[in-house]
Amino acid sequence: MNIKLVKNGVEKSAKNLAVVFMTEEELKAHKNYKMLLRAGFKAEQDTTCFLYGKNTLFCGVEDKAVDNVRSACSAAIQAIKMTNYKSATFDVSDITLKAIVEGVVLGGYEYTKYKSVKKKTKLKNVYLVSEDIEALSVAFEEAVIIAEATNFTRDIVNQTPEDLNPPSFAKLAKKLAKENGLECEILGEKELKAQKMESMLAVGRASRHDSKLIHLSYKPENPKRVVSLIGKGLTYDSGGLSLKPAITMVTMKMDKAGACATLGMIKAASELKIDSEVHVFIGAVENMIGGDAYKPDDVLVTRSGKTVEVRNTDAEGRLVLADVLDYAQDAVKADYMFDFATLTGACMIALGQYTTGVMGHSNRLKHNLSKSASAAGELTSPLPFNKHLKTLLKSGIADISNVASKPYGGAITAGLFLDNFIREENKDKWLHFDIAGSAYTETPWDCNVYGGTGAGVRMISEFLKSFKK
Ligand code: BES
Ligand code: ZN
Ligand code: ZN
Repeated sequence: MNIKLVKNGVEKSAKNLAVVFMTEEELKAHKNYKMLLRAGFKAEQDTTCFLYGKNTLFCGVEDKAVDNVRSACSAAIQAIKMTNYKSATFDVSDITLKAIVEGVVLGGYEYTKYKSVKKKTKLKNVYLVSEDIEALSVAFEEAVIIAEATNFTRDIVNQTPEDLNPPSFAKLAKKLAKENGLECEILGEKELKAQKMESMLAVGRASRHDSKLIHLSYKPENPKRVVSLIGKGLTYDSGGLSLKPAITMVTMKMDKAGACATLGMIKAASELKIDSEVHVFIGAVENMIGGDAYKPDDVLVTRSGKTVEVRNTDAEGRLVLADVLDYAQDAVKADYMFDFATLTGACMIALGQYTTGVMGHSNRLKHNLSKSASAAGELTSPLPFNKHLKTLLKSGIADISNVASKPYGGAITAGLFLDNFIREENKDKWLHFDIAGSAYTETPWDCNVYGGTGAGVRMISEFLKSFKK
């Protein structure tokens, strides 16, 4: 399916469907009101109604706010893909352009790699129609790049743990680097040992796949700033010896979503020709069980020298990130350092399934990123660091414990654990994004369909773009 920005209305034909967004008020005043009413259409948000005789699809919206347009557009594209129309047209303005691109590209996404029979859609072209395409063309190209990078992230998240394991993840990163002119460095277990990354290595020890640290960089000429993006890349999280119950183990292929998001971000940054140098650091590891598995009661010496008592092997993401964050701080001196991780079930309990939890010390940075997220159509909420919660990570035997001694505020105590590995000079440059709830869905919402959502990609692309304005 192609998406194009065009000036004049595509010739009216029985093969083309015109899409019209409509509020309840507009419906009441519409010339086809009675016909639409007979069809049961009330213009409720995300409902659609075909008038085949008029080759028109009506989509209900509460109002014309961009979030509502994007969501309705997703419902529209899914309905259109079931028909025999070869093309569809949407009227766009400077306000609705991005929402419609996202609705079409993200809402129309389907992951079919593992289906033996792939549904075929007749829909070949989606035309966005405007009188002033010169004024909209840059915004259009950018919106398409970002939406496609989001789908790229979804594609990787959705791959099975058998197909996407640490070595194949490294291969995929190398391929992206080649295609997008990025530098790529991969550290295997030998190099990780030399780096003294015992904490990361312990998590991956019982896996038949070698752990990998992936470092990609996008280096434009004369960069204005340096941004480090760190991703939790647990290609599978069985929980390790503190094994997850059967019910919660399902979907744990998505524990690599933070890493997949950072790949989508650097892909978008390079294609948008962002004026920042961007580095991605991924800890690609599989958390399994076996005779050589790391154990509750182990004490690990992290790369930083700090020791950690393992009390639960299912709190593994923070052990991987502890070493990767430390490595990243030595590898580049960044102006911004953001990590993305499906880190805690507690984040989902605190904020619900759709919202990314944001933690860090700098209120200004949290505010800026929350602005980027809203502009990008992503949901985020700050979770406050709290010095009293910090004491819950005390250990009797090591410097800190990998789990808190009380079960409350689990997303925050995980964030506070990571804070132990952020150096003093970087405290205000760092934010931690817990995407446990927002990265994956089994029920569609907004422009997200079944599977990986690509959470974080639109937000960070918007943040990187915001400097240009
Ligand atoms: N990968 C999980 C967190 C998770 C849970 C992500 C559900 C997405 C959906 C993480 O490694 C984990 O298991 N965390 C534990 C921490 C606990 C042992 C302190 C959790 O959330 O239960
Ligand atoms: Zn876990
Ligand atoms: Zn995990």
